[in-house]
Amino acid sequence: MQSSQPIGVFDSGYGGLTVLKELVARLPQYDYTYLGDNARAPYGTRSFETVYHYTLECVQWLFRQGCPLVILACNTASAKALRTIQQHDLPLIAPDKRVLGVIRPTTEVIGKYTKTGKVGILATRGTVLSGSYPIEIEKFYPSIDVFQQACPLWVPLVENNEHDKPGADYFVKEYMELLKAQSPDIDAVLLACTHYPLMRDKIARHLPAGSQLIVQGEIVAESLADYLQRHPEMERRCSRNGQLRCFTTDSAEDFDSHASIFYGKALQSTHIVLP
Ligand code: DGL
Repeated sequence: MQSSQPIGVFDSGYGGLTVLKELVARLPQYDYTYLGDNARAPYGTRSFETVYHYTLECVQWLFRQGCPLVILACNTASAKALRTIQQHDLPLIAPDKRVLGVIRPTTEVIGKYTKTGKVGILATRGTVLSGSYPIEIEKFYPSIDVFQQACPLWVPLVENNEHDKPGADYFVKEYMELLKAQSPDIDAVLLACTHYPLMRDKIARHLPAGSQLIVQGEIVAESLADYLQRHPEMERRCSRNGQLRCFTTDSAEDFDSHASIFYGKALQSTHIVLP
């Protein structure tokens, strides 16, 4: 058995760091290995086949680093690749390992945030087209109406560090107006893309009156804590030295200069080439 068995955390780029930050805050005792596939981000506009293929490669790389458990801290990958990986690939390649996503933990609790039963979902085009949120929310809260809005320009704004600039205001307003036009009664709006928390202040300015903004990081962290409690055999396998290692498929220098915006602290990464 490998001595270090970190929890793997994966995103197409930097967005998953907003989730990692909450995982480390909630469960600091574990080791974590983060992989950002920055060289191939964004995933949100890519086909199902491509997102599945890229995500599987990254998950397998994390498995080779000794991770017994991998969190897809990316809604797009959770929407387009998770089910196939769980049902088709894991039994063949790593029956003793687990891969979890961010959609299910969020949809399990979303009912707590709405009184009107009208929920807005802001996500990448890929996540919206997958229908994952309406399908999953229907399972837990059949009476909730879900209104989705794709925001294809937000991830590029964030990845290029333009999200704080005045030019971003135009695209925030545009997508928020489109969401609000779908229903006047939306009272809870979910940031269903791990990049969007960086734009939360701008987004909050355009929320429907009296509604609240839901951010996933803490929800996912709470759900992981609960999962580990319910699966002691997995919990025992996760090593506990409080170490964090970060890897990127693109330039480590670029990763390090952007990462603190997402993680809140400086990080040092290592470049990897996927086989
Ligand atoms: N952060 C990813 C998500 O949560 C999407 C980013 C991308 O388009 O690559 O959906």
